[in-house]
Amino acid sequence: MEAGCVPNPFTPTFGQIPPFMAGRSEVIGEVVRAFDRGMGDPNLVSLLVGARGAGKTALLTYLAEEALSRGWVTASVSAVPGMLEDIEERALVAAGEFVETPDRMRLRGISVGQLLGIEWDTREAPAGNWRTRMGVILDMLAEHDVGLVIVVDEVRVDLEEMVQLASVYQHFVREGRKVALLMAGLPSKVSALLRDDSVSFLRRSSYHYLGRVDDYAVLDALRKTVEAGGRSIGSAALDEAVRAIEGFPYMMQLVGYRMWDVSPDDREISVEDVLRGIGYAEHDIERKILETTFRELSRGDLRFLAAMLEDEGGESSTVDIGRRLGKKGNYVSQYKRRLMAQGVLEDHGHGMVSIGIPRFRDYLRRRLL
Ligand SMILES: Nc1ncnc2c1ncn2[C@@H]1O[C@H](COP(=O)(O)OP(=O)(O)O)[C@@H](O)[C@H]1O
Ligand SMILES: [Mg+2]
Repeated sequence: MEAGCVPNPFTPTFGQIPPFMAGRSEVIGEVVRAFDRGMGDPNLVSLLVGARGAGKTALLTYLAEEALSRGWVTASVSAVPGMLEDIEERALVAAGEFVETPDRMRLRGISVGQLLGIEWDTREAPAGNWRTRMGVILDMLAEHDVGLVIVVDEVRVDLEEMVQLASVYQHFVREGRKVALLMAGLPSKVSALLRDDSVSFLRRSSYHYLGRVDDYAVLDALRKTVEAGGRSIGSAALDEAVRAIEGFPYMMQLVGYRMWDVSPDDREISVEDVLRGIGYAEHDIERKILETTFRELSRGDLRFLAAMLEDEGGESSTVDIGRRLGKKGNYVSQYKRRLMAQGVLEDHGHGMVSIGIPRFRDYLRRRLL
């Protein structure tokens, strides 16, 4: 068999939905149930929060697809200037699929051009402000009992349109409209957003932290991806891969992709393939994640992390960190919070913390010691 002709099934690209999602079944279950239950379910306003590469965008896309098969249409945008207009346009295109024949539209006194997304470019300027225009689209969807999921990726507080969206969304809810709001962002961006009083309503949204995926779930998704791709992998090779991945979704795709490509003509992926693949993946993650993350850290952040490096086991006690830095408990907890908000630090309870991004420890060692 010429396995080399078989395309690589892994997806080491930001934003791409993997063929098999590792973990995340809890948040998927909760949000999908909210789509089924409809208005009143707290998960209809959900925030997905996690480090770069934790799988936020892929999960947003996945959930948006689930919504489609459950009586909702979706408008997916990124939080950039022009976001509101983009939401309207996406909603219009999606709603267009539910619009009836032009005759019936005319009977109801609505012009087709006003509603059909395809004619957006040529129609006249729509009447009313954003809230009014969205209301027209929602009315039309409501006639078919279809709801609208607004999906906003990479949320940030310094965008005036986030504030407008939050405020108009609250009106929609009060008017009893069938709407949902899914948002995703880096921990530091989301905490800044939640601190802002002008969008205080978002503090009531369901907060889903996308942390480390369990090893058994990584193993399962790895094996399924390999087998669905038409090859096989033994348990020793799988164990090596899982250990290197450390529960980090992006690392799973990098390791998977690289190990697949080492001997693409062999039917089985060997332990040697995996070990070589891990070497390449380490290089990839350094360039795609570690360097960027490092650049975003302050001197105080870096001093805190450097104080953790001498703990061989990976976990450090905040008491030890404070002692090594010669600082008091409130200084230590302030930096702990900061680093957790950046997705760099994981809290294990009882004052124990660890670095939550794979290979970041080694990287810091090289840069700081
Ligand atoms: N649950 C998952 N299991 C396996 N791979 C995943 C999962 N979620 C995302 N990925 C992969 O991880 C990488 C990063 O995903 P992405 O959604 O872009 O992360 P983020 O938006 O958090 O930076 C992509 O290559 C994607 O295919
Ligand atoms: Mg993303």
